[in-house]
Amino acid sequence: MLRKIIIEPDPVLRKKCDPLEKVDDQTRKLMKDMLETMYNAPGIGLAAIQVGILKRLVVIDVSKDQEKKEPLFLINPEIIHTSNKTSIYEEGCLSLPGQFAEIERPAECVLKYVDYQGIQKEMKAEGLLATCIQHEVDHLNGILFIDYLSKLKKDMIIKKLVKHKKEIERVIV
Ligand code: NI
Repeated sequence: MLRKIIIEPDPVLRKKCDPLEKVDDQTRKLMKDMLETMYNAPGIGLAAIQVGILKRLVVIDVSKDQEKKEPLFLINPEIIHTSNKTSIYEEGCLSLPGQFAEIERPAECVLKYVDYQGIQKEMKAEGLLATCIQHEVDHLNGILFIDYLSKLKKDMIIKKLVKHKKEIERVIV
């Protein structure tokens, strides 16, 4: 089932999400919905907060091949180490349609998380995946990529999004 993605500006996107206590069928159904919504958008990462659920849940798929999907389900992800070396990617976000900016982040990170089966795991990520994980974990803490930009740039993007939202509402009406 496709879920509705919340678009910035929206106070929900600024909330801090709560850890999930147990992984059950309801959790797995929600994550499947999130994955479907992400593929449909299309995007490479989505946090539960972006569909209005304030839990620490993330889905990611950075695989290039459309045929061979490699979904990653991260429950209660926690970054336990980041490298001093950084990298820069042009980031976008499904909650900020049409907006992109170059963001510098640690090039590598080590992550602790619970997987789809409820098993505690650890992984090391680099490249695009490392950036994507950090972007998604930020969402769980109410942080958006535009928060790393100058106030001027950030205000400009928010202004555009407000205009975009009004246009969408006009079409619906
Ligand atoms: Ni995002």
